[in-house]
Amino acid sequence: MLLELDHVAYTYTTRNQNVAALKDATASFAAGGLYAIVGKSGSGKSTLLSLIAGLMLPTSGEVRYDGAATAAMDLNRYRRDLVTVIYQSFNLFPLLTALENVAYPLELKGLKAAAARAEAARHIASVDLAEDLHRRFPDQLSGGERQRVAIARALATGSRLILADEPTGNLDEASGAVVVDILAHLARQQHHTVILVTHDKDIARQADEILLMRDGVLVRNDSPDAPASSG
Ligand SMILES: Nc1ncnc2c1ncn2[C@@H]1O[C@H](COP(=O)(O)OP(=O)(O)O)[C@@H](O)[C@H]1O
Ligand SMILES: [Mg+2]
Repeated sequence: MLLELDHVAYTYTTRNQNVAALKDATASFAAGGLYAIVGKSGSGKSTLLSLIAGLMLPTSGEVRYDGAATAAMDLNRYRRDLVTVIYQSFNLFPLLTALENVAYPLELKGLKAAAARAEAARHIASVDLAEDLHRRFPDQLSGGERQRVAIARALATGSRLILADEPTGNLDEASGAVVVDILAHLARQQHHTVILVTHDKDIARQADEILLMRDGVLVRNDSPDAPASSG
């Protein structure tokens, strides 16, 4: 298993209260798998992704990548090289072109500008964006095009583990379907592990496994329509 959650809990501690956002979650994610996490707003989906992304550490339990607990890792390296996150709001750099957005993580890894651009162009082509879009800025692209640039940037990080928090949340149905097709292709043809949070049952249905979050509890679920069984 590429990724394991072993009795993971997370409690936000604020001035007035503690919020047990995640309670005792255990799950495993295989290389090349496409996973959907579904559940109501506030059920703990983003908290779960943040723990997997190494943006925070569990209050108890372990998140293990390739057998190593995030709590024992160099988290900066983990976040830079091993895991990448795609957001509903795209999070592209507004003052960089599409190509420069994708080249950025490559330059962070030490590639010279020309080499970074050449590799970035390959990643952009792999998400089916035409070359005349390379020089556009994010606000000159449609939502679906922006999200594909974000996926290309995720690929440029070289991470095998791709997390996506409502990646189609700001897209119309057709552009959303394209984005999900690309993510499914990355899992099935390129052996990435893709974990995506979604409200959309049609999208969840395409996953190899659906995980349901309910009030901080992670329940395995076979069907996006059925309530989770207790077995
Ligand atoms: N930074 C925070 N501080 C305190 N509580 C938080 C924080 N972030 C999220 N929560 C709470 O944790 C619970 C789970 O939130 P979240 O993981 O964002 O759910 P989802 O992504 O499923 O909507 C909610 O009750 C939310 O209010
Ligand atoms: Mg959320």
